[in-house]
Amino acid sequence: MAEIKPYSMCWLEYTDLNKYRDKYRRIFGNIVVLGDNSLNLPLKELRDFLTYSLGIKPKIFRNTFANTSNFVLIGKLSDVRKVLKGLDEFEFSLGEEGFLIKKVEFGENSILILTAKEYVGLIYGVFKLIEKLKLGEDIDKINFLSNPSLKFRILNHWDNLDGSVERGYAGNSIFFKDNKIIINDRNKDYARLLSSIGINGIVINNVNVKKKEVELLTIPYLKKLKELAKIFSAYGIKIYLSINFASPIYLGGLNTADPLDKRVSLWWKTKVDEIYEYIPDFGGFLVKADSEFNPGPHMYGRTHADGANMLGEALEPYGGFVIWRAFVYNCLQDWRDMKTDRAKAAYDNFKPLDGKFMDNVIVQIKYGPMDFQVREPVNPLFGGLEQTNQILELQITQEYTGQQIHLCYLGILWKDILEFDTYAKGKGSEVKEILKGNVFKIKNNGMAGVSNVGDNINWTGHDLAQANLYTFGELAWNPDEKIEKIVERWIKLTFGDDEKVVENISYMLLNSHKAYEKYTTPLGLGWMVNPGHHYGPNPEGYEYSKWGTYHRANYEAIGVDRSSRGTGYTLQYHSPWREIYDSIDTCPEELLLFFHRVPYNYRLKSGKTLLQTYYDLHFEGVEEVEEIRRRWIELKGKIDDKTYERVLQRLNMQVEHAKEWRDVINTYFFRRTGIPDEKGRKIYP
Ligand code: GCU
Repeated sequence: MAEIKPYSMCWLEYTDLNKYRDKYRRIFGNIVVLGDNSLNLPLKELRDFLTYSLGIKPKIFRNTFANTSNFVLIGKLSDVRKVLKGLDEFEFSLGEEGFLIKKVEFGENSILILTAKEYVGLIYGVFKLIEKLKLGEDIDKINFLSNPSLKFRILNHWDNLDGSVERGYAGNSIFFKDNKIIINDRNKDYARLLSSIGINGIVINNVNVKKKEVELLTIPYLKKLKELAKIFSAYGIKIYLSINFASPIYLGGLNTADPLDKRVSLWWKTKVDEIYEYIPDFGGFLVKADSEFNPGPHMYGRTHADGANMLGEALEPYGGFVIWRAFVYNCLQDWRDMKTDRAKAAYDNFKPLDGKFMDNVIVQIKYGPMDFQVREPVNPLFGGLEQTNQILELQITQEYTGQQIHLCYLGILWKDILEFDTYAKGKGSEVKEILKGNVFKIKNNGMAGVSNVGDNINWTGHDLAQANLYTFGELAWNPDEKIEKIVERWIKLTFGDDEKVVENISYMLLNSHKAYEKYTTPLGLGWMVNPGHHYGPNPEGYEYSKWGTYHRANYEAIGVDRSSRGTGYTLQYHSPWREIYDSIDTCPEELLLFFHRVPYNYRLKSGKTLLQTYYDLHFEGVEEVEEIRRRWIELKGKIDDKTYERVLQRLNMQVEHAKEWRDVINTYFFRRTGIPDEKGRKIYP
C-alpha cells in the first residue's frame, strides 16, 4: 500500500491501474539501472508507481542484464551507448534537460530505454514515462524524444516569512511559518509535482521583500535554505530568492544602496559568495525595484540596467541569474492627470535600456501592460526588446480571475498570449518564438508563473485550479502543444478516463475563461474590482485612486483613448498591430475598450450597440456558469464524494457571485445611460 498522505498528489496520485497490468508486465517486471546511486531517485519513482498503481514489483538489476531478457533500461546516454548500438544520433538531438524513451527489439527480447544526457533529464523522463503508463499509452513502438523549448521554467511564490501568501487563495505558505522555513515531506512532494511538469526553478519568497524577509540572506536562514534547496535540487529545480534592493542598508549597515557605489557592489559580491557556500546551485535573484514602493536604482538617479548589472556581476562567477521585473509604473498618479498612461510605463522604462543588460540578466515582463486582467493586449515589450533576455510572467494564482473560488481555466488565455505574433521581424515573430530564442539572438528566456499553491489539502483551493498549475508547466516545456490535449491529459491523470468525466470537465475548463470574462469586464475593459483584495465588482473602485487604472465612464462613453490621437500607447507596437489597434474599426473587439474610448451607442460588428452588447454578455456569462455547474452535477457518483462536494460548493458560490457581477455592472451602465435592456431583462434601476 502506498503511504496515505494528508494532501492530494494531484496528477501524480497512485490510482488502481490493474486494467493495464498485463499490457505492461512483460517489460516492466525488470529494471536495469546503468550507473551509480545517483540514479536511485528516478528508479524509486518508477518502482513506486509500478508497485502501487500496477501491482508490478519489478526486479532491479544494477549495471548488468545478464539474467534478464525483457527490461527497462535506465541510464545516462553515455552509459547506455556503451552497451547498446544505434543511439549515436541522440548525442546531437538530446539537449541538456531532454530525455528519450525508446523501445528497441533485441531478437526475441524487448528493451525500453529511458535515457538522457544529464541526470535531470532522467528525472523529467521518468515522470513522463509514468504519465504515459498512467494514461495506458502503447509503448510497443515508442520513440519519444523531448527537449524543453524554453530554458527558464520558473514558479514565483509570493510567500512571506510569517506564512501568509500575497494573493494566495489556497491557504498558507508551504515554505514558511512563524518566520521559520518549513522542511518536511510536503516540500519533497511539491518538488515531485513540479518536476513532473518540467519546472526547473522556484522563487520561494514574495517579490515585495519586507524588512523581515530581507533576513533570508542571513546565515541562520541560509543554513535552512540549504536543506530546502537540496530537496528541490534532487528533482532538477533550483531555488531563487526575491531580494530587496536596499539590503545593503538593512543588513550591511551602509547608508546607501547606490549600485555604482563600490561599497554596495562589494557588499553584494560578498553576500553572493556566502550564498553559494551554502547553496552551490543557487539560481539567482528576482528583483522588484522602483515599483510600488520597493526601493531601486532610480532612488540614486541610476538606471535599471545599472542596478541589474551590479547584481549580475556578483552572480556571474557562479552561473547565477538576475531576473529583473519590468512591472514599473507611477503608482501615485492623480486621476485628474489625463496624459499619463500606466499602460505605456513598462515599455517607456525598458525599451531605452535594450542591449544594456548583462547576459545573465533577464527582464521579466507581465503578459500585459497593466496587471493580469482577464484580458489585456500582449505587452509591447515582447517584440520591443531585441537584445534583452526575457521571461514572460503569468499569474497562475487567480488574483483578478476569481481567486480560486471561480473556475477560470487560464490555459486558453496563455495560449493566446504565446501565439500572439508581434511582427517584430515580420510574420512569425510570435511571443513563443521570441521566448524560444528564434526571433532575436537572445537565449536566456522563459516563463514564470505566480504560483497558485498553498497548504490546502488540494494545494490550489479549487480542485480544478490544479489544471492551471499543470498547464503552466506543460506550456513552458512546450508552448506549441494544443491546449485541448493538455486539458484532456490532466483530466485523465487526475480523475481517470471515464468518457463522460473527460467530456464534461473539458467543457467546463475550456469554457470557463470566456464565461468569467463575459460576466466581469469584457471587451478589454478590466478592473472594476473592489480595491485592495480585488474580489468582486466595484465599477468605480479604482476610478479616483492613485493607481492609474481608470475607465473614465461618463453618461455617453467609456474607456481610455490609447490610440495615436490619445495617449499614443498603440505606437509601442510594430505594424500592422499599431494600425490595427489604432482604429476603432479594426481593433479586435475583445480589446476594444482597452484601446478606445467608445460611446455606448457605438455599433459593434454584430450590429448591436456597445451598451446592449455589455448587457447581453453579462446575462450570457451567468448562463454559461450555470451550464458549467450543470456539467459538474452530471458527474455525481463518478468523482470521489469529497472532491465532488468541494468543487460543487465553489461552483455554487461562483454562480451567485457571477450574478452579483452581472447585476452590479449592468446597473452601473443603466444608471449612467438611462437606456434599458432591449430584451427587457431585469436590471436594477
Ligand atoms: C499586483 C498585485 C500585488 C503585487 C504586484 C506585483 O499589483 O496586486 O500584490 O505585488 O502586482 O506583481 O508586483
